[in-house]
Amino acid sequence: MPALHACLVTCNEQVSQTVFRLTLHAPDLALAAAPGQFVNIRIQEGAVPLWRRPLSVYSANRDAGSLRLLFEVRGVGTRILAASRPGTTLDVLGPLGTAFLAPPRGALPVLVAGGLGIAPLHFWAEELARAGCRPLLLFGARTAEALCALDDLRRLDSDLRLATEDGTEGMQGMVTELLATTLAEQPPQQTMVYACGPVPMLREVERICAARAVDGQICLETLMACGFGACMGCAVAARSSSPQPGYKLVCKDGPVFNFGEVDLER
Ligand SMILES: Cc1cc2nc3c(=O)[nH]c(=O)nc-3n(C[C@H](O)[C@H](O)[C@H](O)COP(=O)(O)OP(=O)(O)OC[C@H]3O[C@@H](n4cnc5c(N)ncnc54)[C@H](O)[C@@H]3O)c2cc1C
Ligand code: FES
Repeated sequence: MPALHACLVTCNEQVSQTVFRLTLHAPDLALAAAPGQFVNIRIQEGAVPLWRRPLSVYSANRDAGSLRLLFEVRGVGTRILAASRPGTTLDVLGPLGTAFLAPPRGALPVLVAGGLGIAPLHFWAEELARAGCRPLLLFGARTAEALCALDDLRRLDSDLRLATEDGTEGMQGMVTELLATTLAEQPPQQTMVYACGPVPMLREVERICAARAVDGQICLETLMACGFGACMGCAVAARSSSPQPGYKLVCKDGPVFNFGEVDLER
């Protein structure tokens, strides 16, 4: 059940020019959160910014009672968050939204992250590794500098493969090209793909997987306000062929959706 939590900032590290890793003392959230879910943070008292800002859970340490978030400074809210010092208390609503579904027994989980899409997939990779199900983690960005938090990723028990558009780290090209070559080596029935990143990347992931009859899920990041289904601000079109066409709320029906559930063309 989502609830309001007063969370103490214990660390806020800058991991690249624009990306920060925030650690919160949040024992209840750390226990309750599942990979794919997010929290909605009230940035500060007062009218600006008015709405909370949603961030995926990047990591949860249940023993230590801590929760980590990885975020990029985009505008007013994340700029203020980047300046939060240890000792600050944040008003955090969560955990919110749907979580990733476990892969079928014996299937290899293939996680595909584009840029900051790594945030929910890092948590998922941690949980899969903890459950003894070593994931294949494909991570792509424009440049080596944009492949943030590689220190954490290299500590995970996963098969990590990198791609950069400018070739400064890993394979030169898009992470979706890495996915296509990886899937060609894998029996489709024994693979489950999980992807998070920009919408054009997600569209390509769905296309590549459909061509090989590989199943999977995507995690969407749209603009949000309430974060729990009250304002309709995060509605996206459902696929007309899906069992329940119409609209889906990313905050409540998602952010994790099955392939084909949401119309990524609109
Ligand atoms: C479920 C969910 C999980 C998310 N997880 C993460 C995460 O783990 N790490 C992370 O860095 N970001 C994540 N985001 C995106 C993050 O919420 C936005 O970057 C943030 O709200 C921007 O706030 P701001 O006040 O800094 O920017 P604003 O001043 O509100 O806007 C600055 C610019 O960013 C754009 N923008 C604002 N919100 C979003 C959004 N949701 N998606 C795309 N563009 C946006 C605006 O259109 C504008 O161009 C997530 C979003 C959702 C919905
Ligand atoms: S953000 Fe309000 S309904 Fe989704």
